[in-house]
Amino acid sequence: MIKAIYGTSLGKAYCADSLTVMREMLPNSVDLVLTSPPYALHFKKEYGNADQKDYIKWFSPFAAEILRILKPSGSFVLNIGGTWTPGKPTRSLYHFRLLLHLCDKIGFYLCQEFFWYNPAKMPAPAEWVNVRRVRVKDSVEYIYWLGKTPNPKADNSRVLQPYSKDMLRLIKRGITATRRPSGHNIKETFALDKGGAIPGNFIQCGNNESNSNYLAALKKAGKKIHPARFPAELPKFFINFLTDPGNIVLDPFSGSNTTGYVAESLGRKWVAIEINEEYLRDSELRFQFSQKGKSEPLFTKKQEPFQLPLMEER
Ligand SMILES: C[S@@+](CC[C@H](N)C(=O)[O-])C[C@H]1O[C@@H](n2cnc3c(N)ncnc32)[C@H](O)[C@@H]1O
Repeated sequence: MIKAIYGTSLGKAYCADSLTVMREMLPNSVDLVLTSPPYALHFKKEYGNADQKDYIKWFSPFAAEILRILKPSGSFVLNIGGTWTPGKPTRSLYHFRLLLHLCDKIGFYLCQEFFWYNPAKMPAPAEWVNVRRVRVKDSVEYIYWLGKTPNPKADNSRVLQPYSKDMLRLIKRGITATRRPSGHNIKETFALDKGGAIPGNFIQCGNNESNSNYLAALKKAGKKIHPARFPAELPKFFINFLTDPGNIVLDPFSGSNTTGYVAESLGRKWVAIEINEEYLRDSELRFQFSQKGKSEPLFTKKQEPFQLPLMEER
């Protein structure tokens, strides 16, 4: 029996190896798996990282379980960082090989790839970037949006962005139909106000404001900050884009549980699994502070917390 460390009316946080937990879960039960596993970094994080040469072997069993537990309408959003070849100023190809493996061997479909630009990333490796100055900063991470089927549930009208000044001008003025040199036919309807701009597959956000309540809470409690949180904007975008309220979102490498926290704030059910008990226990602090930073509970802990969709008794 896997026991949750904490929970709310919408979600539960488990301290365990996520492979063990996912193996106990019902097939076709989860709407979105959104996660950032340890990358195959050359400079290892404190929680440990699989080596780039073993990465596919390490990750494959997790990927197979994710495919099994996803609903046919479900999505798998995988954030993965690139790395360098040890001792050489060349990039590793492990994340490209991983993507091919996930599609060719495990059975996922690549719906779209996204790029997360994090301007706050440190310049590394120092040898090539700072000392010899033969490479620039690696400031983009990959986000692979994969489907269990080729056309999982998605709605880009839920993630519209503010129009640019130029577009606002066009909407105000209207346009006459024209054919662009690129061959695109531009119709009058192009300049209709549709509530916002369709976003591109490039996401820019740093790791600051969206985690500030959690950071303040940890500081107050004299605790260590998780070394690789992602910004709340990332899960927020994909949860809104790919799920409806009440759907189940799972993060099998949940760290400081950014995913669960954001899922809860958007009215989605969530499951967080983290192998390191300290990270998981500390992540509960996220739920004890309101978004305004006051020490009032943001979410009420009700009597009947959400149940993990476990396998039926065999
Ligand atoms: C990149 S961090 C995730 C950070 C998270 N996205 C956040 O915002 O805090 C990866 C996490 O996976 C955890 N982890 C590694 N192997 C695991 C496993 N087999 N099961 C569950 N968690 C694991 C590590 O302890 C680490 O906290």
